[in-house]
Amino acid sequence: MNIAVFPGSFDPVTLGHMDLIRRAADIFDRVYVCAMVNSGKQPMFPAEQRHAMLRAATADIPNVTAELWTGLLADYAKERGARYLIKGVRNGTDFDTELGMAQINRALEPTLDTVLLPARTEFLHLSSTMVREMVKYARPLEPYMPAAAIEIMKGR
Ligand code: PNS
Repeated sequence: MNIAVFPGSFDPVTLGHMDLIRRAADIFDRVYVCAMVNSGKQPMFPAEQRHAMLRAATADIPNVTAELWTGLLADYAKERGARYLIKGVRNGTDFDTELGMAQINRALEPTLDTVLLPARTEFLHLSSTMVREMVKYARPLEPYMPAAAIEIMKGR
């Protein structure tokens, strides 16, 4: 069975993430999407809420499980029996970042490979950073986020 992990901050989960998660779920037998800690970022949403939004957004995808992990990604992947990490790339900056992280993760866990999926054109300019701005200024979130995650965010 080919098992993959799709990690991220998911602060919050966006429609761009959802497109990548669904594509990963088509490729792999099982995908663990995992809300994690990026030590370079101070999140807007607490880890439990990021996880709850991710879980609600992926509930209808049968081979996807949403989890929360506060340790190293390589350790999580090993614990889940995953040999692949999936990351989305929108541009050269994403690619450079992901190349570095792929090398670190492979050094930590030599059986772990990273698969990079190119973002679809309509999601090239969508980022969690931009969605956080929309949240801050109370703008509609429907164009950017899955409906189930918006419901969780609004506390419904
Ligand atoms: O959505 P992001 O912020 O680009 O995701 C980055 C993330 C959370 C995947 C990365 O920071 C991460 O893997 N954090 C877990 C800690 C870890 O394993 N660090 C070493 C790999 S760089």
